[in-house]
Amino acid sequence: MLHQDNLTTLQSHILQEAQRFPQATGQFSWILSAMSLATKVIASKIRRARIDDVLGALDSSNVQGERQQKLDVIANETLLRCLGTRSGVAVVASEENEEPMILRQDTGGAERPYCVLFDPLDGSSNLDCAGAVGTIFSILRYDRRAKTPEGSLLQRGAEQVAAGYILYGSSVVFVLTTGNGVHMFVLDPNIGAFVLVAKDVKVPTASKIYSTNEGNCLGFPDGYQRYLRFAHEQGYSTRYSGAMVADVHRILLNGGVFLYPPTKKSPDGKLRLMYEANPMAFLIEQAGGKAYAGTERILDIQPKTLHQRTSVILGSPAEVDHVLAHL
Ligand code: AHG
Ligand code: MN
Ligand code: MN
Repeated sequence: MLHQDNLTTLQSHILQEAQRFPQATGQFSWILSAMSLATKVIASKIRRARIDDVLGALDSSNVQGERQQKLDVIANETLLRCLGTRSGVAVVASEENEEPMILRQDTGGAERPYCVLFDPLDGSSNLDCAGAVGTIFSILRYDRRAKTPEGSLLQRGAEQVAAGYILYGSSVVFVLTTGNGVHMFVLDPNIGAFVLVAKDVKVPTASKIYSTNEGNCLGFPDGYQRYLRFAHEQGYSTRYSGAMVADVHRILLNGGVFLYPPTKKSPDGKLRLMYEANPMAFLIEQAGGKAYAGTERILDIQPKTLHQRTSVILGSPAEVDHVLAHL
């Protein structure tokens, strides 16, 4: 899996990919380069957070009614700043903003502009204890036929043109798909560039690991409880960090299944379809895995609202099948 031939950065990988589309105007490449810049800035702010005294919660809540961490806001502003200067971006939507931001609807060029959706800081409750956090993003084509910008964003996950996440862990890892496999880059802090470390990553087909907040188990629908009993009897291991990016990254590399079922507190599930479930589902499917919400494929869900939530079952195909067999 290790890529030892040539030294390839994320930037040069994006340029190589663009060559597959001779008619491309470069707008898309510029968007990915904005993501790369923003996430380097966020990574550096996270490293310094305690020193710069930007840990802890703000008095404000986000659109989901969740307490915002100071770094949620800093990460959000960093992404908006970097993406705002890219001419190919028509609309941006963030987990932290109630309304999408319309930057421009007509870029004048022949190519249709894009919509970028993101969870600027995933797992932000881990920040205070220096745990892993992440950023998740999804890119859609702007739909000119839609009556409102929000309408343009309400596309099925299957329509995504790219998705990725950045894990701020013991190293900073950028995992990307543009619908042509999943590629993994690690930030080399000495040169300030993301370097390709694995091409066409595939999730192991099976692995006896599940990742869920088992404290909620008694509030899960019966089928999930039956699956967990099966996993206990079969001697599965459990791994759960409280940051979806970190948990899904482990599953991408080591296999297993990530579950966020409906609970009594969140009957529709907790995770957000547009900012978390769709991009992760696209990546996992591109890596040969499966991603479901109950018995429905996540990428087939027709979204009704921008901030809607969903349950999530994703990971190794054989492990997702085990869960589905119990539902
Ligand atoms: P965010 O910090 O963006 O709100 O996301 C937190 C999410 C996700 O990262 C994680 O898998 C899940 O919430 C953890 O929820 P519980 O604390 O309920 O387990
Ligand atoms: Mn999140
Ligand atoms: Mn978040």
